[in-house]
Amino acid sequence: MDTPTRSLRCLIAGCGDVGTRLGLALCAGGHEVFGLRRRPAELPGELIGIAADLATGRGLDGLPGGIDLLFVTVSAGMASGEDDYRRTYVDGPRHLCEAIATRPGPGPQRVVFTSSTSVYGQTDGSLVDEESPTEPVDFRGRVMLAAERQLAAGPWPAVVLRLGGIYGPGRTWLVDAVRTGRTGVSVDGRSGWTNRIHADDAARALLHVAMLPAPAPCYVAVDEEPARRDDVVRFLAERLGVEPPAVADDPLRTRGGDRRCSSARLRASGFRFRYPSYREGYAELLGG
Ligand SMILES: NC(=O)c1ccc[n+]([C@@H]2O[C@H](COP(=O)([O-])OP(=O)(O)OC[C@H]3O[C@@H](n4cnc5c(N)ncnc54)[C@H](OP(=O)(O)O)[C@@H]3O)[C@@H](O)[C@H]2O)c1
Repeated sequence: MDTPTRSLRCLIAGCGDVGTRLGLALCAGGHEVFGLRRRPAELPGELIGIAADLATGRGLDGLPGGIDLLFVTVSAGMASGEDDYRRTYVDGPRHLCEAIATRPGPGPQRVVFTSSTSVYGQTDGSLVDEESPTEPVDFRGRVMLAAERQLAAGPWPAVVLRLGGIYGPGRTWLVDAVRTGRTGVSVDGRSGWTNRIHADDAARALLHVAMLPAPAPCYVAVDEEPARRDDVVRFLAERLGVEPPAVADDPLRTRGGDRRCSSARLRASGFRFRYPSYREGYAELLGG
């Protein structure tokens, strides 16, 4: 997309944590932003709320016409089963695109979708980028891949961002688990590789690819430093002043597979991380 010379009309569908950060940045840039979710009363006043349920289609007849940029940042949440996932990530965006297509105007110039690194199945610590095979190990990755393909086959140019684990203000489950001793370092000293992105950088990356003149169809969006889980836990434990237990079979340990995702393509496109690694991000969260 060319550098906008006018205010753009943007719709953020599934406007939660990352979507709201993005929406506020778009507003600050002078753009008009609609935030769609089931409970729009939770949105800040700068965003124009739309009450709709993507999964059922309820409320989608209230969409504005003339949307220039469409962001799909809807989330099914961690605890959802396969049916919820499919309704949220496949049925939801399909209902949304069908509803937008009935509005006057040519349709969005670009659709940006927040996918996940769960589309990758590598569990051997290997390096993974946009060209790596996508052979998901569970329904989460399979549904996300189906959602990516559906948008790519849709009527408008689509860009997919494959995000790693998001952390940031209010998203401190790992910090809390370390603080309370509910997780620790692996007893064999061989924890897997993990990949994450600060919520602010996730929103900034969405804005960045939305404004690129000629984006690639897909970007891996993780910070610059894949990290062994034990290293992150030790870092947090030291900051928190606790001694992490050595654990043999930690159910929190295997989240997110074991791979080193690379965001080289995103960085080569001009994106600069505000939080290049977990150290900067968690240090700020823990008070500098
Ligand atoms: N969490 C992670 O570590 C992670 C990793 C990789 C990728 N991602 C992806 O990153 C994106 C942004 O995540 P996030 O943390 O910002 O998510 P979030 O805070 O949970 O926001 C998603 C929003 O979607 C809305 N929503 C859910 N179901 C809906 C429906 N049927 N119709 C309309 N709105 C609906 C929810 O608001 P209401 O309840 O008000 O509807 C919620 O506020 C998501 O696409 C997520 O899948 C997340």
